[in-house]
Amino acid sequence: MRIIRTANYEEMSVRVAAIIAAQITLKPASKLGLATGSTPLGAYRELVAAHREGALDFSQVSTYNLDEYRGLSGDDPQSYRYFMDEHLFSQVNIDRAQTHVPDGSNLDAAEACASYDRLLEAAGYVDLQLLGIGNNGHIGFNEPDDCFATGTHCVDLTESTIEANSRLFESPDDVPRQAYTMGIQAIMFARRVVVAASGTKKAEAVRAMCEGLVTPSCPASILQLHPDVILIADEEALSLC
Ligand code: GLP
Repeated sequence: MRIIRTANYEEMSVRVAAIIAAQITLKPASKLGLATGSTPLGAYRELVAAHREGALDFSQVSTYNLDEYRGLSGDDPQSYRYFMDEHLFSQVNIDRAQTHVPDGSNLDAAEACASYDRLLEAAGYVDLQLLGIGNNGHIGFNEPDDCFATGTHCVDLTESTIEANSRLFESPDDVPRQAYTMGIQAIMFARRVVVAASGTKKAEAVRAMCEGLVTPSCPASILQLHPDVILIADEEALSLC
């Protein structure tokens, strides 16, 4: 795992965006695995700015998001589909038909997950997977567990994740209790993985990911087995490493 240490969130965002921009420049038809949450927002802003300056063409790019809340449709402002449309897809020249997010409106979990796996397999998985990390070491919505879940699956969110994500909802009661998430296999099949982390709340998870045992109790620790991972993290997130 290569580690790029940055002074703060802004510098982290610039570095993450630069790697994604380079990926698209080198391979215009790149398949990108994308993440939601506060962490990638700054990088998405940088990518939008680069596009507006004429420096970045998304016309051949396709995207596959990590996860979605079960029970939310794409027009719900709390859904991850809405987040991606708002912060990236509507602001660049990407073909929206080439942007993929698990279908949270499909309450048939088995069907929703199987169809996302079929899509990922047909795509040959992604060239670059962008990840944030949860305070408890989750990636996507792969929560700490007794085993690594390989395929796309429906998860019961942990109390710690519900609590962490409740800042984006009116109250913790409004946070959906379940989500569909890409499994560990599709993440590990990405040709390159870029993990972004910022702030002291992530420090313990970052330490466990980089230096701890490879264990499903810290799902991000599996990344120690991936041959091409770049961790871009600020001083605070790296404060325990
Ligand atoms: C969320 C998402 C993850 C994200 C993580 C961290 O629950 N499912 O994909 O990486 O938690 O979020 P944030 O970047 O807001 O700290």
